[in-house]
Amino acid sequence: MSHADDHEGTRRDFLYYATAGAGAVTAGAAVWPLVNQMNPSADVLALSTIRVDVSDVAEGTQLTVKWLGKPVFIRRRTPEEIEEARAVEMGDLPDPIARNENLDGAADAEDQNRTMDENGEWLVMMGVCTHLGCVPLGDGAGEYNGWFCPCHGSHYDTAGRIRKGPAPTNLPVPPAEFVDETTILLG
Ligand code: FES
Repeated sequence: MSHADDHEGTRRDFLYYATAGAGAVTAGAAVWPLVNQMNPSADVLALSTIRVDVSDVAEGTQLTVKWLGKPVFIRRRTPEEIEEARAVEMGDLPDPIARNENLDGAADAEDQNRTMDENGEWLVMMGVCTHLGCVPLGDGAGEYNGWFCPCHGSHYDTAGRIRKGPAPTNLPVPPAEFVDETTILLG
């Protein structure tokens, strides 16, 4: 074997391996998103239910927690907020449906159908405007003393129901329950 043949053989081997290598990388890149979608990572699995300690939430304040990557508002309402929410006529609501995942889908939007407890002290809902997804401002914001989304001017009342502006539906109530007096389980 001459020196030239030897050189050529080496070059061909090199090209072969380089091509095979590129092929393997391409296949890997195509397959990865699929595998990734089929196997939620450990932190996503861990967050599909979370426990929230609400023992430090004073009346008239709220806590925002992150659940499944989205904000959730947990508000301990004042008697005035509860009274205001309960005085509303269903006919005044743009969206008369409860939007509460803990109830059957046809339940109407009266205040009792959106709160965690019969007294209506605890209100838990997604902190995501139903218009285009901004996070509304709370603590008595907007014309209805509940939440206000400044993105395009949606006003929600003290039960998180849409009252004015472009948002089409009430803020949704996620699956939630009290597992003891001071702990809410979300999810
Ligand atoms: S995103 Fe809230 S009003 Fe448009």
